[in-house]
This record gives sequence, C-alpha cells and structure tokens, in this order.
Amino acid sequence: MASFVIEGGRKLEGEIKIQGSKNGSLPLLSASLLAEGKTLLYGCPDLSDVRAALNILTYLGCETAFDKGVAVIDCSNAKRSNIPDDMMQEMRSSVVFLGALLGRFGRAEISAPGGCEIGLRPIDLHLDAMKALGAQVVESGGRIVFTCPDGLKGARISLSFPSVGTTENILLAACTAKGETVIINAAREPEITELAEFLNDCGANIKGAGESVITVNGVERLNAVEHTVYPDRIAAVTYMAAAAVTRGNILLHGMNHELPMPVLENFEKAGCNLAADGDRIYIKAPKQLGRIPLIRTMPYPGFPTDSQADFAVMAAISVGTGIIVENIFENRFKYIAELIKMGACARTEGRVAVIEGVKELNSANVMSPDLRGGSALVVAGLCAKGKTTVENIEHIDRGYENFENQLKVLGAKITRRD
Ligand code: EPZ
Repeated sequence: MASFVIEGGRKLEGEIKIQGSKNGSLPLLSASLLAEGKTLLYGCPDLSDVRAALNILTYLGCETAFDKGVAVIDCSNAKRSNIPDDMMQEMRSSVVFLGALLGRFGRAEISAPGGCEIGLRPIDLHLDAMKALGAQVVESGGRIVFTCPDGLKGARISLSFPSVGTTENILLAACTAKGETVIINAAREPEITELAEFLNDCGANIKGAGESVITVNGVERLNAVEHTVYPDRIAAVTYMAAAAVTRGNILLHGMNHELPMPVLENFEKAGCNLAADGDRIYIKAPKQLGRIPLIRTMPYPGFPTDSQADFAVMAAISVGTGIIVENIFENRFKYIAELIKMGACARTEGRVAVIEGVKELNSANVMSPDLRGGSALVVAGLCAKGKTTVENIEHIDRGYENFENQLKVLGAKITRRD
C-alpha cells in the first residue's frame, strides 16, 4: 500500500493548471465505442480510473493509445460486448459502458457492481432506463445480460433521482436508438453537458443537456471526433481548500466554467477572497478561517457531494461550528474518524456531520477511506504541524493526476512512499 508523507504547516502559494476531469473523461471514453473512426481526447487525465477504462476498451477489441494526456481510441474492430467481473470490480464506474455497449452491439454483459467505499451504489435506475429503451435484462450469478434483439427504441424516461450515471447511460443508448427519447429529471452536472456536446459533435441530435429535460432524436451513425476534456471542477476545489487551510494564495488556470455558486459562497463565508477571470480562478485565504455554518450536498447546481470532505477540513480549523448534511451518498463520512485522530472536534449522526473548529490539527498517521476522503486528509496534513502519513493512497490516484507534484509546485512538502 502506498502512502503520502506530508510536512504540514507550510503556506501554499503559486499557480497550477487544473487536470482534465475524471468524471468527464470516463463517459467520453465509453462514448468512443459508438463513433466510427479514431476518437482523440486531449487533456485526458492520467488516472488509474482512466487507465482501467482504456483497458476495458482494449479488451472489447478497440485499439487504444494514451500518451502525454492524449487518449486515442479506434473502436472499428470492437467485437466483445461483455465486461469481465474483475474489470468491473477494478472500476465501479464501468457501469457507464452499459449504454454504449447496448447502442453499439445491441447487447451488454456486466457484473452487478458491488457497493463501494461511499455507499451501496445500486444501479436500479440504470436497469429501468435500459428496459424503457427496449432492452431485456437477465440477472444471474452476479452477472447482468442486456439484449435488445429488435434494437433500441426511443422512450420517455422520468428519473426518480437526477442520477449522473443513469443520465449518461441514457444519452449513450438513445443517440442511435430509433425515434425520440425524452429524459425527465435528468442530471444537470457539467459532465452531462460535455457528453452531449461530444456526442452532438459526432453527429447525434441531443437538446437540453444541462437542464432537467433532455431530448434525444436517434441518428443512424456517429463519426469519431477530437475533443478537449473539460477541467476537473472537483480537483480544483481540493486545491483551493488546500490554499484555504494553509493561509495561502494560489491561482488555478485551465478552468472553463463557473464553480457552483454554493461552493464559491462557502469559500467566501470562510473568509477567502476569490477572483475569476477567463479560464483562471484565484483564491487568497484569511489568517483565520471563518465559520461555515451549513453545507447541504445536492445534485448540480447545488453543493457537490464530491467537495464536502474538503470543506469539512476547512470547518475543522474554522471559528465556530459547521454542519454538513450529505444528501447524495449514505456512507460518505468515513474520513471524519481519521480527522478526529488529527485532533478535529467532530461527530457524525447518519448523514449529518457536526464539526466544531479547533485552533489547529495535529499530524498523525491516517488511512484514506475513499477517493475524496483521502484527498481531504492530505489537505488536513498540509495544515497540521509536523509529519502526517496518509495510507492507502491508491484511492487518491483514481482521481488526482500527479497530486503530490502539483502540491509541491505550490510549496508543499509531500513525498510518495510506495
Ligand atoms: C457520479 O456518480 C460521479 N462519478 C460521482 O463522483 C459523484 O459523486 C456522483 O455522480 C454525484 O455527483 C462519476 O461520474 C464516475 P449518481 P454516479 O448516479 O453516477 C443513487 C467521485 O468521487 N442511485 O448521480 O454513481 C446513488 O446510490 C465520484 O468522483 C440509485 O439509487 O452518481 C447515489 O445515492 C463519487 N440508483 C445517488 O443516486 C441508481 O441506479 C447519486 O448517484 C443510480 C444511482
């Protein structure tokens, strides 16, 4: 198990370019299955999840290459429509291949993805949506086989929850289905807008992406295109939080869209000064973080669940008490126990965390419980005086490209120990 060793207490200053989005690039890699010819994704982040997705595409029969941030995928000779169990377990978000496999082959075979560190992660909404589009589903022995002998047909699909992955799978399956598909209560995350932009560039006919109602009219074929992956808005918030807790000031460039207002508002409530200009965002931290009274995670454009751990660390050394309500996943506070080892005064009751600010955190040996909890523990280590070790950083490698080197550029003392 690899770990990070962090010498905390140093102010972060300087400028870095934000990596391409993990949650943007994964559905784009899946979408390449639908496009004839060679897909090129520029600014694709070098992450273990991205490499796992490329391995799946290679297994399916695609030719793939990935170098210096450019992923090249040619799916002309793809012939398999099943994802082996070990590959499904390697990356739980591989469920995002479902819609593209059905759209390309009229068949898909995947494993029921086991839960993960942050919750059960059921796929009932995905199953119902694929059935609505005409797929027959047979589940046995932990494997699920989808077939649609008569081809996929457009349908009106109302989602009980604006699920990001389900919205992505519907877009992927519907863009070459016969007829019109209407998604009601669709997810509005920027990753949805990006996937629709990519598919439309390939020749699809998708309207309304980014809103709650999306209409897709099926087309005959899609042609491969080149695309530059959107920047990772969640990674950006992690670096901003690292500046906030170390009384630092940093400039992030390569941003291409606003962070959700609730994120900006809570940085300002904590006393940070923010300035945005084009593709750059600047944050300057106060000497002492102010109180962050209440954060409720919500679907976009609400406060993103992926950023709540970063703000918990800020709340841990702020004046006053902060409350975080996690409305999206049922088990996303595991990192709080690790923060308590570092001297945080916090407790959780189900989906609510109550965090009473203390003067400073103490360095400690902590374990990364999941991707965003792990990166938040690194942020905590940056502000705790002394040497903090964060174990199980394989979780963090799934979502943060070159994490320790990016932090070193900003003045952190952090080393990876394999
Ligand atoms: C995506 O997960 C992201 N992952 C998550 O980021 C992110 O936290 C989440 O969207 C919410 O924004 C990727 O894009 C790869 P959902 P996804 O379907 O698609 C329940 C990270 O750290 N649900 O919107 O799985 C589900 O259990 C990761 O980068 C069902 O009940 O999220 C959850 O409670 C973590 N049935 C809620 O909906 C379903 O069929 C939101 O899930 C599907 C989802």
